[in-house]
Amino acid sequence: MVHMSDTSSHESSTSDDQPKVSFGFEDVSATEKVSRVKGVFRSVASRYDLMNDLMSAGVHRIWKANTIARLNPQPGERILDVAGGTGDVALAFLKSAEEKARRRGQHHLVTRAIVCDINEAMLAAGRSRESLAKYRSVMDWVTGDGMQLPFRDNSVDALSIAFGIRNVADMDMAFREFRRVLKPGGRFACLEFSHMTAGVLQDAYDAYSFNVIPKLGDWITGDAASYQYLVESIRRFPKQDEVTRRITEAGFSQVSCTNYSGGIAALHFGWAV
Ligand SMILES: C[S@@+](CC[C@H](N)C(=O)[O-])C[C@H]1O[C@@H](n2cnc3c(N)ncnc32)[C@H](O)[C@@H]1O
Repeated sequence: MVHMSDTSSHESSTSDDQPKVSFGFEDVSATEKVSRVKGVFRSVASRYDLMNDLMSAGVHRIWKANTIARLNPQPGERILDVAGGTGDVALAFLKSAEEKARRRGQHHLVTRAIVCDINEAMLAAGRSRESLAKYRSVMDWVTGDGMQLPFRDNSVDALSIAFGIRNVADMDMAFREFRRVLKPGGRFACLEFSHMTAGVLQDAYDAYSFNVIPKLGDWITGDAASYQYLVESIRRFPKQDEVTRRITEAGFSQVSCTNYSGGIAALHFGWAV
């Protein structure tokens, strides 16, 4: 039997009125969440990419490819991938822009990607990836917090965050930061685990999430607790409609939501105008 927690809100208050945020099924202070999330990704960094492929049977690659298609990379643009970890989305953005530049003969246009992450261990794992070697000169790896980005106002053409926002202590603060650094007309894509739309598969999904994923995490990374956090944090994450509303409140326009794999993941997309 799976213990399900309230999914209606990401943040809550305790009786002494100290603001708390969710860390999996626990409620902790924002400071504690930041520190514990750092611990999670420090622990799994070296096996993170392998675990993603195993847990999702490679499907996360399709979700990311769809996200890139929505972002529609253009030669000469600058993308910021927040919580970019090992650089999957940034790399896909660069490849897509490169392919367009090749087709159009726009070889003079240099597309750049910044991978920004709070965790040095994840960035180090990304920097050492063989598949990224070719793009080293057009990629920047920056240690930084999504809630307080070390970038100027109106400085990037596109901003993405994939499976990152759930881990951020103050999601609204982060959305406002994303709006600040995007140029007017810039595109924003937020890919995140979400909530299934068809209840019929919920039991099977819960059984897989709570029984298989932590065991797989233990086997591959030696850290079951971090993958227990993963599945709990997904259940605590706000539903699609609430995320849409909060992105809109942060100042984005025409915010839409596309469910993937029946809502296991969802892409929120908006425009900075
Ligand atoms: C599940 S991983 C996603 C990595 C990558 N985007 C991907 O899709 O494979 C979540 C990432 O969020 C980062 N992260 C957590 N809190 C953050 C914050 N406040 N600011 C920036 N990055 C953060 C973690 O260090 C981790 O690398």
